[in-house]
Amino acid sequence: MQAVLLGPPGSGKGTQAAALADRLGFQHLATGDILREEVKNKTKLGMEAKKFMEKGELVPDKLILEMVSSHLKPDVAYLWDGFPRTEEQAVGLDAMLAVRNLSVDVAVLLEVPDAIIIRRISGRLSCPGCGANYHRETLPSKKEGVCDRCGTRLEARTDDRPEVVARRLAVYREQTSPVMRYYEKQGKLVRVNGDQPPENVTAKLAAVFEAAKGKSQKVDG
Ligand code: AP5
Repeated sequence: MQAVLLGPPGSGKGTQAAALADRLGFQHLATGDILREEVKNKTKLGMEAKKFMEKGELVPDKLILEMVSSHLKPDVAYLWDGFPRTEEQAVGLDAMLAVRNLSVDVAVLLEVPDAIIIRRISGRLSCPGCGANYHRETLPSKKEGVCDRCGTRLEARTDDRPEVVARRLAVYREQTSPVMRYYEKQGKLVRVNGDQPPENVTAKLAAVFEAAKGKSQKVDG
């Protein structure tokens, strides 16, 4: 089972993937998290990617596809978060899966209005240690400013500055909309209202993924 989680910046992809991956037997693969790790470690890819990320632009498809391919393990059910982000990446993912006799089973689009996104991103805190996500008001850590999971001091992401967020939203509309159409044409796109309490979104997504899993098992069997 291969599931894609689509949605604008701040729509809750990371939050939901973290809540659902273990429960549903997925491995959570977030290209944004991998890139931030590369930037932190000052690798060649990280140094190249940083130039795009700090401006809110997409990292070039070629680099992303090579990076994803190097992380892909056989026989793993992935929950893809923040990837694919362009039609070229969607076609690239299909090609990588096809050689393993796999395909994307479902693509879920988390829909959240821009005004809510801006409120969410401006309150977001992330853990540079383990990648856990918090929000100053809606999802605070137990001890202020410290990660519940690993005790690292929480930080605001450098690309969460208002001018960069505006560019990320524009890039999402221009470059990621074709990905929605790509999956819609294949009858794989499911839209979920992401503007509700996190646990309600989790319940809805769990139902969508369970239904898709049932369908894919029927096809396989
Ligand atoms: P990436 O890390 O993928 O960022 P993004 O897609 O912009 O998404 P975010 O991580 O900002 O948000 P999210 O949807 O995960 O929301 P979250 O759960 O954190 O990409 C960063 C950059 O890397 C890109 O700009 C690009 O440069 C590059 N990149 C990455 N992948 C790439 C690719 N494939 N191709 C090219 N370039 C790529 O939630 C946000 C906040 O809201 C949190 O504080 C959370 O606690 C809160 N929250 C979540 N859900 C709810 C809810 N239901 N109610 C209230 N608050 C909520």
